[in-house]
Amino acid sequence: MTKVSIVGAGYVGAATAFAMVLRGTCSELVLVDKNEAKARAEAADISHATPISHATRVSAGSYADLSGAHLVVLTAGANQRPGESRLELLARNAAVFREMVPQVLGAAPEATLLIATNPVDVMTQLSAQLAGPERAARVFGSGTVLDTARLRALIAAQANVDPQHVHGYVLGEHGDSEVVAWSGVTIAGLGLEKFMDAAHKPWNAEVQAQTEHAVRHAAAEIIAVKGMTAYGIGAALARITEAVLRDRRSVLTVSAVHGRYGAALSLPRVVGGAGLLETLTLPLSAAEEAALERSAQVLREAGQQVL
Ligand code: 2OP
Repeated sequence: MTKVSIVGAGYVGAATAFAMVLRGTCSELVLVDKNEAKARAEAADISHATPISHATRVSAGSYADLSGAHLVVLTAGANQRPGESRLELLARNAAVFREMVPQVLGAAPEATLLIATNPVDVMTQLSAQLAGPERAARVFGSGTVLDTARLRALIAAQANVDPQHVHGYVLGEHGDSEVVAWSGVTIAGLGLEKFMDAAHKPWNAEVQAQTEHAVRHAAAEIIAVKGMTAYGIGAALARITEAVLRDRRSVLTVSAVHGRYGAALSLPRVVGGAGLLETLTLPLSAAEEAALERSAQVLREAGQQVL
């Protein structure tokens, strides 16, 4: 039996629940929202997909119903308005978290906390602070898992290969200062340029810069048209949850507090049943190292406003 709860049944919470039911992530799923009627309606709608996907018991509840959850996804809070950066949500969502995290931990003291609310890195650091050092391995954020997926999808399209065979990471802030670690991108075990060359696909500095721009601004471009993003992050949260519930030991760029950088940020980490098992140190170019340090600086400064 695997029980997951999602706090916040807005666009992201509902898309996450839907992704989990379609993927068969868990056996029980409880949606909690301050708007209880909305949580009930989303749970009912999503439960209607279970006979044609996976037999998940989906319900709506209150904080008390988090009891026994193995993992709780936190998606509650305001989301970006068109033209707004993730960091501009900080004060609003920090207030929500100060009230919510103690209640979640009170109801589900054994649960792993997976933070999705933006700005996700600062919300992760705040949650880790509220949860205390003994839970350090069990509090982390979705970080740049979605940005990494966006990067892999775009490179895969350019290379005309399955994105599962493209490896590479976006590091640092889930936001404008994020860092694409180009020096480590590989396809089928070959360095990016070597693969593109061997496969006779066009790849040059201009294509690389366009790809990086598309990754960095993907959310803003979607938000400008439809007002929010939900499906990509929903799938990413389901994938991270499975790494924990199934002890997959997946390498994922989740966000967590890192002593050397003095902030929560994304680095490739091994994620399994006990939560964060290891943080990997990638060989980066000097320019990538410097960009990662600048991204950490952005997050340290943002954190000072609320931590
Ligand atoms: C995203 O990247 C808005 O953070 C959200 O889709």
